[in-house]
Amino acid sequence: MEREKKYKKTILIDSNDDKALKDAAEHLRNGEVVGFPTETVYGLGCDGRNGDAVSKVFGAKGRPADNPLICHVGNKEQIKEIVSEITPLAQTLIDNFMPGPITIVMKKADSISDKTTAGLDTVGVRMPSNPIANKFLQYCAVPVAAPSANLSGRPSPTSARSVLEDMDGYIYAIIDGGDSEFGLESTVVDCTGTVPVILRPGAVTKADIDAVLKSNDTISGGLKSEGETPKAPGMKYRHYAPYAQVEIMKMPEGTKITGDNALASDGKIEKIETVDLKKLSDDEAKELVNIVSPFILRSREILAKNPFARIGLYCGSEIKAMYDKMNDKLLLAHTEFCVYGKTVDVSCASHGLFEGLRFLDVQEVDVILAQGFDGEGLSVAYMNRLTKASGKKEELAPGMPKPERPSRTALSIDAFKDTYTASVLFVDDNNTSLSACLESLMRKMLAKNEPYISNQESNAGFEIYCESAGLTAMSGLEPDSMMEKAVKELTGWGLGAIESRRADPAIYDDNDLIITVRDEQAFAITKAFPEIKDKVFSLSTFAAANGLVMKDSSGRVMSISVPDPTGENYETYLHTAKALNAWLEILFPYILKEVGACRI
Ligand code: TXA
Ligand code: MG
Repeated sequence: MEREKKYKKTILIDSNDDKALKDAAEHLRNGEVVGFPTETVYGLGCDGRNGDAVSKVFGAKGRPADNPLICHVGNKEQIKEIVSEITPLAQTLIDNFMPGPITIVMKKADSISDKTTAGLDTVGVRMPSNPIANKFLQYCAVPVAAPSANLSGRPSPTSARSVLEDMDGYIYAIIDGGDSEFGLESTVVDCTGTVPVILRPGAVTKADIDAVLKSNDTISGGLKSEGETPKAPGMKYRHYAPYAQVEIMKMPEGTKITGDNALASDGKIEKIETVDLKKLSDDEAKELVNIVSPFILRSREILAKNPFARIGLYCGSEIKAMYDKMNDKLLLAHTEFCVYGKTVDVSCASHGLFEGLRFLDVQEVDVILAQGFDGEGLSVAYMNRLTKASGKKEELAPGMPKPERPSRTALSIDAFKDTYTASVLFVDDNNTSLSACLESLMRKMLAKNEPYISNQESNAGFEIYCESAGLTAMSGLEPDSMMEKAVKELTGWGLGAIESRRADPAIYDDNDLIITVRDEQAFAITKAFPEIKDKVFSLSTFAAANGLVMKDSSGRVMSISVPDPTGENYETYLHTAKALNAWLEILFPYILKEVGACRI
C-alpha cells in the first residue's frame, strides 16, 4: 500500500493543553487520526466504528489489512458497547488488570467496524492506565481503535518524537505525553475460551494472571498445540526491527535478573551512567566479565572481517564502564553505546529497548548487539520483541515496507538543559581550493545530520561548527571558481562566503579538531606547536587512528592522497570534490565521536 502524505505538518499537542486535547478528540470523532501516549507505547487512534477512519490508520502505518486493531476505552462501562459477551474469565481479568498494560480479546459487538478487527469475530479491548491517555479517551467518548504508532515493521514508538519520525504529515496530530513507562506493548490475552491464552507477552505476566485465577492454566506462547498457527495475526514476522541487523548477546545462565515486572525507575533513558567498577565484589566482577565477553568477542570478530564496520551496543552501564576501562581505542572508535541502566535490570532494558534501537539506527551502525535475558516474567516479553527484531530482513511480512534509515527532518522538538559546542578546522597550504571544499562539504553534512546531543549527557544539545585555513595562504582571496562550481554541482551549495585565511595559533586554539589534507601539513603544525598534537591529524592519520585502514593488493597500507587540481580541467576538480566527499562521509561519524557528539 502506497503511503500518502495528507498534511503539510502533523500538529504536536502539549498534553497539559486541555483545550487542544478536546480539539484533538473532536477531530478523532470526525474521522481524523491522532497519535496518543499510553503507559506501554504510543498509539495511532481513530474511531473504531468508522471504517473510513480505520482505513486511514492502516494507510498511515503501512499495515497489511489482515492484522486487526485493538480498541481503547476510557472507562469500563464502554466495554459493553464493544463486545457481545463478557465471560466470567474476562471479567476477572478486567477487574484485576484494567486499567493497565493488558489487552483482552473477547467476542465482538456489531458496533465495531469489520475493518478494525480485520474480519475476525473477536476484538481486543484495552483500557490504558496512563492519565493522559485516559483523559483523551474520555474526551473521545467513542471506542478508539489504535495500533502502535510506528510504521509497520519498525520499533514501536515510546516518545512523541519517534511517532513524529514515522508519521509526520501522515496523521492529523500527536499528543506529546513524554516517554512511555513500560516501553513494550500490552500483554494480549485471548479470553474467548475456558482458559486464558497469552497471544503476546507483556508486562502482565503468566504468573500475574495465574495468581488472580488461583490456577496454573494460563497458556503462554500463543499456541494451544504444536504446529498451530499463531492466533495474534501480527506476531508472525520480523517486527520491531531497526535498519541495522540485530544480534542477541546471551546472559550467562543463573545471572540474577532484577526489576522483573517493576515499573521503569524514572521514565528517562540514561544513555550514559558512570559506574565504579572498584566497588564490585569478586563474584560480581566475575559475573560481569561473563556478561561483557560475548559483546567484545563478537565485536572483534565483526571488525576482523570488516575494519569499516560500526557496531551499536544496547547494554547496561557496567558494560560501558568495562569498555571504558579496557580502553581499546579501535574497539571504542567503532562502538556506539545506548545504555539502558543497570545491566541486570530487565525493566529498564524493556523501557528503553525500542527507543534504543531507533537511537542506534540514527548513529548509522551496521550491527546492533543487544543484551539478552534469561528466565520468566518480564524477560519473556523483552526477549519476544528482541528475537523478532533480530529476524533476517527477508522475513518481512508480504507487502510490509522494508526498514529504512529514518529521515532526520522531523526532529526538532527537544529542549535541552545545556548546549555544548565544538569546532572542526580543515587545513591545506592555500585556502582557496581543497580546505575550502572540505569546509563546505562538512557544513552540508552537519546540516543534513542535525540535531546533535552530547555523547556523555543525553539531555545536553550539541552544536558543531567548522572552518578552514591555509598554512601559507594569503588572506581575503576568493575561492577557486572551478572548485566553487564543482562543489555546487555536487551538493547544491557553493563555497559561499568562504574567504581564504592564513592559519595561526588563535585559529588552532578556537578549534577542537584539526584535520589537514596532507600528512606533511599535520607534521608541520605539530612540530611548531607540540602542545596541540593530540587534536591534529591529516585525513590519513585520522582514518588510521580510527582503524579505517585500506590495503592495496600487496598488503601495503594505502594513505588518502588528494592531488591538488589547480591548473587542471573541470572534470579533475569535480573528481577531487567527489573524492573528498566520499572520505568525509566515511570519517563523519568518527569526527562526531572525537568532538564528543552524536546524532539524535
Ligand atoms: O500496548 C499496546 O497494546 C499498544 C497501545 C497503543 O495500546 N497497541 C498495540 O497495537 O501494540 P498493535 O496493533 O501494534 O498490536 C496489537 C496486537 C497485534 O499483534 C494484533 O494482531 C493483535 O494484537 N490483535 C488485535 N486484535 C486481535 C484479535 N481480535 N485477536 C487476536 N489478536 C489480535
Ligand atoms: Mg505494533
